[in-house]
Amino acid sequence: MVNQIPEFIPVTIDKSHIITIGERLYAESIEFVRELVNNAYDADATLVEIAVTEDTIEIRDNGSGMDMEGLRQYFNIGSQQKLYSPKSQAYGRDRIGQFGIGKFATLSACKRFEVVTKKDDFVGRVVFDKEQWEKTGEVWQLPFERLPADFRKQNGTTVLLVGLERTFEPRDIEEKIVEGTPIKAPYFRVRINNHTVTPRSLSGHRIPFLEGTRFGPVSGEIVILSETASTSADPGIEVKVKQVTVRRELFGMETWGKSMARVRGEVNADFLPITSDRTGFIKDSGEYRELLKIMEKIMENVKISLQRLTMKKEGKKVSRVPPLPGTMLVCSVTFARD
Ligand SMILES: Nc1ncnc2c1ncn2[C@@H]1O[C@H](COP(=O)(O)OP(=O)(O)OP(=O)(O)O)[C@@H](O)[C@H]1O
Ligand SMILES: [Mg+2]
Repeated sequence: MVNQIPEFIPVTIDKSHIITIGERLYAESIEFVRELVNNAYDADATLVEIAVTEDTIEIRDNGSGMDMEGLRQYFNIGSQQKLYSPKSQAYGRDRIGQFGIGKFATLSACKRFEVVTKKDDFVGRVVFDKEQWEKTGEVWQLPFERLPADFRKQNGTTVLLVGLERTFEPRDIEEKIVEGTPIKAPYFRVRINNHTVTPRSLSGHRIPFLEGTRFGPVSGEIVILSETASTSADPGIEVKVKQVTVRRELFGMETWGKSMARVRGEVNADFLPITSDRTGFIKDSGEYRELLKIMEKIMENVKISLQRLTMKKEGKKVSRVPPLPGTMLVCSVTFARD
């Protein structure tokens, strides 16, 4: 007879996995910039100041800051707290975080990071040192120090990266911010070494669009650059979720030949499920398939527009662009005037 007493196997997690998440989830260590700046945005910061030196990077925000409870939350791994309260308190921002692991992105960039935070009378500092973490056996604790309330004037959080694993050029950090953070959002400014980061602007023939889906709206703008502005750098359309570029997609332009270099733009679809390194989509989701379907239709019209512009330049007679067949359109794809 088989023994019927139930037995169990515990589920455990190795302490080193925390460092693995930080070091191996992100293909490029510079991704920490996006993670920390977006944490500041989610915490209602209006200003994020980044100071880059040869040995350290400091990211300081004037957001809500954290008290003891907030710091505990900070070091909770995998908390989906932001999914449960998706809007920020002060500005009602759509919060970008969702996985509860972003803070560890710093671990691929440095040996140690320190968090100093102030929320009203509470000021505290926590240090995460990779070597210490590995040395301290099964102890799952970090050194914490309470600091005097006047240690810092304003509420907010500063993350300091010490012992950088490589050099980070302010130029590259700026590039990450432009694509990976909502710098066009109101009341949100990011500065690097005292210089404000500004969004990119594209000029050319603009094709804005807005469509409704059962998951939510898909909106954006395709820009057909002039032939002289056409470039092979960063090809494709930026696909954004909550104002953050997740990746650039070609949406069929692979077969367009040279003219692909003239097409840029962005599409916003906040409902798309993303991978936890925030650089890809869950491609076998209904949401992603829906996006592809919509973009196929939009790109067909972009192609016609592009042909029309080229023919016009060559002085050929052009026929009107056919309207889109669009039972699902909230507002059909509209074509801006030349
Ligand atoms: N700059 C900050 N100001 C205030 N609170 C912060 C800040 N950075 C992080 N936090 C708190 O720490 C938590 C953990 O941050 P973390 O980036 O690891 O996860 P997340 O932002 O919730 O999700 P994701 O992994 O998708 O970024 C946040 O949910 C937030 O409560
Ligand atoms: Mg985060």
